[in-house]
Amino acid sequence: MDKVVKFERNDTIAIVTINRPPVNALSAVVRGGVVECINAAIADPQVKAIVLICAGRTFIAGADIAEFGKPPKSPGVDELLAALENSPKPIVAAIHGNALGGGLEVALVCHFRVATQEAKLGLPEIKLGLLPGSGGTQRLPRIVGVEKALEMVTSGIHVPAREALAMSLVDEIVEEGKLKEGAISFARRAVEEGKPLVKVRENNTKLEAAKGHRAIFENFRKLNARKFRGFLAPEYNIRCIEAAVNSSSFEEGLAVEREFFRELETGPQSIAQRYYFFAERQARKIPDVSDDTPTRPINKVGVLGAGTMGGGIAMNFANAGIPVTIVEIKQDALDRGLGVIKSNYERTAARGGLAPEQVNQRMDLLTGSLSLEDFADCDLIIEAVFERMDIKKQVFANLDRICKPGAILATNTSELNVDEIASITRRPEDVIGLHFFSPANVMKLLEVVRGEKTAADVIATSMKLAKMIGKVAVLAGVCHGFIGNRMLNQREREAKKLVLEGASPWDVDRVLYDFGFPMGPFRMNDLAGLDLGWVMEESKSSTLREVLCEIGRLGQKAGAGYYDYDVDRNAKPSPVTEKIIKDFIAKSGKSPRKISDEQIVERCIYPMINEGVKILEEGKALRASDIDVVWVNGYGWPVYRGGPMYYADQIGLEKILVKMKEFHAIMGDELKPASLLEKLVADGKTFANFDQLRKSPELA
Ligand code: 3HC
Ligand code: NAI
Repeated sequence: MDKVVKFERNDTIAIVTINRPPVNALSAVVRGGVVECINAAIADPQVKAIVLICAGRTFIAGADIAEFGKPPKSPGVDELLAALENSPKPIVAAIHGNALGGGLEVALVCHFRVATQEAKLGLPEIKLGLLPGSGGTQRLPRIVGVEKALEMVTSGIHVPAREALAMSLVDEIVEEGKLKEGAISFARRAVEEGKPLVKVRENNTKLEAAKGHRAIFENFRKLNARKFRGFLAPEYNIRCIEAAVNSSSFEEGLAVEREFFRELETGPQSIAQRYYFFAERQARKIPDVSDDTPTRPINKVGVLGAGTMGGGIAMNFANAGIPVTIVEIKQDALDRGLGVIKSNYERTAARGGLAPEQVNQRMDLLTGSLSLEDFADCDLIIEAVFERMDIKKQVFANLDRICKPGAILATNTSELNVDEIASITRRPEDVIGLHFFSPANVMKLLEVVRGEKTAADVIATSMKLAKMIGKVAVLAGVCHGFIGNRMLNQREREAKKLVLEGASPWDVDRVLYDFGFPMGPFRMNDLAGLDLGWVMEESKSSTLREVLCEIGRLGQKAGAGYYDYDVDRNAKPSPVTEKIIKDFIAKSGKSPRKISDEQIVERCIYPMINEGVKILEEGKALRASDIDVVWVNGYGWPVYRGGPMYYADQIGLEKILVKMKEFHAIMGDELKPASLLEKLVADGKTFANFDQLRKSPELA
């Protein structure tokens, strides 16, 4: 077997190569290997300079996330960094793929950095609820300046090599495929020219400008307050950069960083975010669809319907360079749909997110048509027409007739039965649900809905395609609302019931907002439009929503819904809504009761978790962690709380069961505890245990 870290010599240059697939994470064995090889190179009198390079697809992509929270193993990262930084011979980091987190921190203690054009560099620890804990917060601002450093550590952005060169984060760009040669040549020149060994820690010039300017940090906090809400790590990252500027020595700043890192690492937010990191990657694995399942080529996509969803779905593929044919029923709907796409692209370009020529390039990939026959050469067709079974069936019968053999026929239905849709075709094995979320060009979640007869390669292709268009895919089974909406329906129902029991819509929204959601259910309903699926002729004044619609309070677009809205779309609690609620309560003959914030959380969240358990016991989700991935990506569940099922484990399944039993006794069967929940509690198990057992059935 190849050594994890090996040392070879090319004339006077030592080459230390890390080979630890998949991403050369900085695990103990890598750290030990590098220290050993660097020491060997330093001791070798023939060696004049050292190149640190990685095999495989990337430079070091960071610390080994799986090692966090475990007893430290020797040598520690500090020992490794000291060995590199204090080397009397120049060390050149040769970067390809990604130099992230601890990987970039290693590169920052090397005396020089060269990178391929495709390489990316960044400190993404923030995404794990952490901060760069190996000197990154102290060294980065010394190279790129305080403002850029603040931006990089709090966004976790991966900076392309060209930009990194412009900000002196790398010293030279090397031709792709010739990294080793380029790095060796750089190292030779360093020796020949007698370049001084750069120790980033000694360079304070870029910090001077920020010294004593607290406003830089205060403004940054203010500007990003919304983005950082609820998270601990952004503030700690900022404080570390402040410490880099204001400490009397590098060591003093480093001590601040170490302290904050330790606090974050052991805190609940980072633990949840690290769990989430692996959950997202786990979701890609489908036990009976192996990684080597052949996939179908997707070179051309068809989208049926250019409405809210069809347009956004089409954009995803155009963004990835895949041509799309969009078919509509009427010319004006087609023109409108294409117009919306164009103005979306133009808005992005105006904000600097796209070059003007890219707008045209993407629009050129989209072809509008009124004829289904134009789908004949498409490899994948996604239907996004009205949510009605009769229409979907008619559409799929036509697609079956027109589309070529092997084409994947997908529906974007939110809740209709995919098997019933598939049954109208002669090829149910080619039919799948691809449930995008609105706005489909923005939202990361894709529920991949597996029908009873969906072929393995159709699933494998869909999962692969999802990654290609930047979506996070989760496999779901056929059931009403699949994973996400099925659980959301629980929250919606209970929120509405709570309002008729005495809580105000603004209380419910405030509590869920404070829990960490981007907005509460009533604000969300106002935003979506209260008249979605509502028809005046059939309205019976029997629900709060019906009454609001009947009097024209259709939501934010009408300036009034549950809330009143001013011209700037600021929401204010509405006395009109309050009066309608009061009348409903009076009519019910019950008295409003005082409902605490804690009760609001329990009533809105526990039934969702209970539904999640039912989804698991019916096998409609593969794992509890898959459900968490759905909620974090599709519904704004705060990632620092891991996801609903992870959250349930933290508060204890027993507590949830007790509450669900209480709700069931008072409110009936729609709140009946799931039998799997009862079983897990009886066995003293958690959802994490449940997932573990699924992973290794031999343990069950
Ligand atoms: N530690 C442990 N495992 C890691 C890892 C890491 N840093 N990075 C990736 N992996 C694993 C993944 O879990 C996955 O495992 P699996 O195949 O068993 O599911 C495998 O490597 C491949 O990862 P991806 O599927 O994510 O591969 P991609 O090619 O899509 O992406 C990547 C590659 C961009 C490097 C992405 O993996 C990534 O973003 N990794 C995390 C980077 C990161 O956060 N680094 C900072 C770590 S914290 C740190 O360094 C602290 C320090 O400051 C002290
Ligand atoms: P929409 O009403 O905005 O768009 C539907 C479009 O389909 C219209 O432009 C209509 O002209 C066109 N259409 C109808 N019948 C057609 C036919 N036979 N041939 C070609 N075009 C036809 O609807 P929206 O919101 O885009 O929804 C589409 C589908 O996506 C529905 O199944 C819906 O449940 C689902 N969905 C909607 C979400 C949302 O938030 N709006 C989220 C996720 C899924």
